[in-house]
Amino acid sequence: MSRAKISVIGAGHVGATTALRLAEMELGDVVMVDIVEDMPQGKALDLMEMAPVVGYDVSITGANGYDDTAGSDIVVITSGIPRKPGMSRDDLLATNAKIVKQVTEEVIKKSPDTILIVVSNPLDAMVYVAHRVSGFPRERVMGMAGVLDSARFRAFISMELGVSVDNIHAFVLGGHGDDMVPLAKYTTVAGVPITELMPPERVEALITRTRQGGAEIVKLLKTGSAYYSPAASAAQMCEAILKDQKKILPCCVLAQDEYGLDGVFVGLPVKLGSGGVEEVFEIELEDGVRDELHTSAGHVKELCDKVHELIEI
Ligand code: NAI
Ligand code: 2OP
Repeated sequence: MSRAKISVIGAGHVGATTALRLAEMELGDVVMVDIVEDMPQGKALDLMEMAPVVGYDVSITGANGYDDTAGSDIVVITSGIPRKPGMSRDDLLATNAKIVKQVTEEVIKKSPDTILIVVSNPLDAMVYVAHRVSGFPRERVMGMAGVLDSARFRAFISMELGVSVDNIHAFVLGGHGDDMVPLAKYTTVAGVPITELMPPERVEALITRTRQGGAEIVKLLKTGSAYYSPAASAAQMCEAILKDQKKILPCCVLAQDEYGLDGVFVGLPVKLGSGGVEEVFEIELEDGVRDELHTSAGHVKELCDKVHELIEI
């Protein structure tokens, strides 16, 4: 049986850390691609030299072209510029739309059957670009954001209540922007909704912090955005697919008549398995929350319309 191959495009902060997580989890051989000459090769060699110390047994290579990515089972697209303080994710649109378009074109030439996981921002619009350019079915094109946003919500709840993150289950849906939709009712500590464990103003405060979680890190780092938690989140999605776990995770996916949404990419709960997005789950949402999801999806739709003014797809 041959090992799985995962290619990571963009070997910057998120890309290289994703490669590290994939190697540590021994999910398959990893190929990193970047336009910066020698850099992905150098990072790959460094990761191979780490293997004897920590004991993972996979091959990690770096390249400036796509030949080595041929036949990838999954391609994680992280190429693009990150935010600087004061920038919104949407400010990245023009630059990253061009990059994601070019990268997707190259990727699919070598791996026509692959599953694409997009990480580049503005996330939902970049998944739209990858979907349009690849022509892949929705099962094989998705975005990483909800896993990260839910992890942030879980971390904040854990800090607030002093309980293990392991006991906390959270769902954040919607677009990966300030209007994302953390679901308080479905966020639980050992099965108990957080709305029963803390006063409404604390729930609201943690929701606000989650919505601004990316900006909080950007403000602290000053030169870029978060990468440890994003990389771990992308790797978790790869694991669910490669191990056919049928795990339910919030991912950016093309809505097809779910939640009253159609033809828009937005974060929804999906079942991830060897087929990629195997199912989109519809859970009962209160009216206000459903409205929030629609507002968020409307914002994504506007961005996707803007993409057409910037690039031909
Ligand atoms: P980074 O600047 O450290 O790395 C980006 C890499 O992409 C650079 O090494 C650059 O050379 C490379 N690149 C640029 N154009 C390329 C091309 N045409 N082909 C191949 N590689 C190319 O940035 P970082 O921190 O890794 O972030 C990457 C992207 O991921 C950003 O757009 C950021 O906003 C996004 N992001 C999204 C998250 C999410 O939740 N979806 C979370 C964190 C970051
Ligand atoms: C984040 O949420 C920048 O989208 C990235 O950290």
